[in-house]
Amino acid sequence: MPILAEILGTGRAVPERILTNQDLERMVETSDEWITERTGIKERRIGDENTTASSLATEAAKKAMEMAGVKAGDLDLILVATVTPDMPFPSASCVVQKNLQAWKAAAMDLAAGCTGFIYGLSVADGFIKSGQARTILLVGVEILTKITDWTDRATCVLFGDGAGAVILQASNNGNGLLGTYLGADGRYGELLFMPGGGSLQPASQQSLDQRLHFLKMEGNAVFKIAVQTMGDSCLKILDRVQMKPEQIDLLIPHQANLRIIQATAKRLKLPMSKVYVNIDRYGNTSSASIPMALDEVRRSEMYRPGMNVLLVAFGAGLTWGSAIVKI
Ligand code: UT7
Repeated sequence: MPILAEILGTGRAVPERILTNQDLERMVETSDEWITERTGIKERRIGDENTTASSLATEAAKKAMEMAGVKAGDLDLILVATVTPDMPFPSASCVVQKNLQAWKAAAMDLAAGCTGFIYGLSVADGFIKSGQARTILLVGVEILTKITDWTDRATCVLFGDGAGAVILQASNNGNGLLGTYLGADGRYGELLFMPGGGSLQPASQQSLDQRLHFLKMEGNAVFKIAVQTMGDSCLKILDRVQMKPEQIDLLIPHQANLRIIQATAKRLKLPMSKVYVNIDRYGNTSSASIPMALDEVRRSEMYRPGMNVLLVAFGAGLTWGSAIVKI
């Protein structure tokens, strides 16, 4: 059997506080009906002033390590996929390394928007297959509610906070990552971005006045590209690993919009019973959505060892990607 990156353990963490559509009706001009029909979201989790990317990431990581039976000292690499780290630097992964006391581990962040977890899987796969690492912690975490413009109804109803973690380890029992596919197109960068706070528009009174430190999105344009590339990405990875859609036991798509998820399932001719959906409870948690869903599956009765799971995501960059993993 060839060496594969096997997912040995999963974990997730979300803030306790729930923000419902009814709560949002009192904040901006919107309705539960609009949000439910257009997105499938009913509620989302929202952190408080003590919630940071590293705090949720650490909590999720500990649960994944416990399931995997892996100690902090076993970790060779910590990857954190996020666009909302605690601060621009040091990286969130270095803060997680400190929290876990994983002193042997190298650490780096990955910024690929909502596709961050898939990019992270691909990087982890490369490290494991090249022999540079044996045991890797990969976390997708996002505290998007802290960069949400709560006066913009077009975006503030969409996002939530959360973290999902996996432990990947080199193994040869047939389980693990069968392949990944990644894509990007920087020409669409300004369809979904946070313009302020970097070297182009550093923080200033003017950048604050212009509300540049909030997430901005051309939702409708992003929607159309998402529908196309989510479907394309699934077909690309199926082709790459020589599998057919009917061999997939479960599709775990990035949870951005129920209508995008349904369109992706339709393109693959997969029934919705084979598609994992939890957007109603968490909203769009960006790079955390897939590992959070993976953890829910692993800890539920639907989990069967060796099931073939297709993961697919789309996000800021624009980026997209997919993976097939035997979990
Ligand atoms: O995470 C990865 C990247 N993100 C995505 O993949 C998100 C992709 N985009 C979407 O999910 C959808 O485009 C949205 C959910 C963001 C918006 O749905 P839509 O069907 O594309 O709506 P729209 O932007 O075309 O707006 C339709 C109408 C507009 O009113 P008019 O111009 O038709 O009168 C909006 O002003 O809905 C209005 N609207 C709202 N109404 C009530 C926009 N936001 C709201 C709101 N409540 N929260």
